[in-house]
Amino acid sequence: MRRAPGIVRDSIIGYLSAAESASLAEIQEALSLRIGGVPTSSVRSYLNLNTPHLFERTARGHYRLKNGCDQSPNEAAEQSFKIDRATLLQAECFEWLRSCEPRSVQAVVTDPPYGLVEYTDGEQAKLREARGGGIWRVPPSYDGHKRSPLPRFTVLNDGERAALQDFFFEFGKLVLRVTVPGANVIVASNPLLVHLVANAMSQAGLELRGNIVRLVMTMRGGDRPKNAHNEFPNVSVMPRSMFEPWVILRHPLEGRVQDNLRRWKTGGFQRISDTKPFGDVIKSSPTSPRERKIAPHPSLKPQLFLRHLVRSVLPLGEGVVLDPFAGSGSTLAAANAIGYASIGIEKDASFVKMARKAIPQLAALSIQHVDPI
Ligand SMILES: C[S@@+](CC[C@H](N)C(=O)[O-])C[C@H]1O[C@@H](n2cnc3c(N)ncnc32)[C@H](O)[C@@H]1O
Repeated sequence: MRRAPGIVRDSIIGYLSAAESASLAEIQEALSLRIGGVPTSSVRSYLNLNTPHLFERTARGHYRLKNGCDQSPNEAAEQSFKIDRATLLQAECFEWLRSCEPRSVQAVVTDPPYGLVEYTDGEQAKLREARGGGIWRVPPSYDGHKRSPLPRFTVLNDGERAALQDFFFEFGKLVLRVTVPGANVIVASNPLLVHLVANAMSQAGLELRGNIVRLVMTMRGGDRPKNAHNEFPNVSVMPRSMFEPWVILRHPLEGRVQDNLRRWKTGGFQRISDTKPFGDVIKSSPTSPRERKIAPHPSLKPQLFLRHLVRSVLPLGEGVVLDPFAGSGSTLAAANAIGYASIGIEKDASFVKMARKAIPQLAALSIQHVDPI
């Protein structure tokens, strides 16, 4: 059944604001009274997804509404580090965005978690032990090269997809709140889920402005049917993935582009040169081993691509670039390399530690320029 975005989450909040604490079964029963039946797996996904920023676990399978959506910026961030012009905060980004000064950010460039479950403690433990399984697929080694595990987004069920839709709807609303009119909001995605992100974030009030195609060959797709590859040697189940889509959204303009540029310093993309506008297809390659050694994050994005993108999102080169899912700080490093101010939020203490070390090293890399097309 198709429901309005946010309705399941809002109904859970409505119920829990009246109850002290409730079990999964009680929450599910309350939901079926309010909005009709919702599968247990979906309720569990919503609760997991929004814990700890909305809900707290009180006992096994019991939840209550978290107090403190009115936190001050200092309380939302557990720790803060200044690295050149970048500010890195250890915080849960939804909480931080809620407590942040409205209209204080000129651009967002971010690579959010997609499996939703992929950055939960359990899945991260599996990844760190290189066990594979769950959301992680450990690809085969080729020519002695060990490949990093990849998240398998095809394993998401309907409940997880609906949860993802709500996640990006909520994220979009908060991004709308903290950005200035005309701010570019660029969100890394993948071919299987890009429609969902674009839909949810535009429903939240951001304008959809297209996609950036990062031309890159990944290890996804192109395989013959599993356990039947000899029988069907000329078949690949999915196309071999050769691009990564990044959704382009914009905080709606205030007035005409020139009015917005004058007042807010936003409302367009910085050109590459006099003769070349910023384009939406960017030649790229997988992140180099040199960068991976500096920042061994499972989703590290390459500096060459990020520097090109980050430079362009501030049309006049003025303002702050925000990355609410900062990981190992690659966006902040790109901003430092260009000379822009930036803010990064990361909730995982071990990635914050990695980022503190990696940002200056990534920013200092001299990267061979490649014509982006
Ligand atoms: C896809 S990774 C980004 C990696 C980044 N592109 C890089 O190059 O290092 C997403 C990051 O968001 C973090 N994260 C997930 N949920 C978060 C939340 N609610 N608040 C802050 N950080 C979060 C994860 O720990 C993870 O490091």
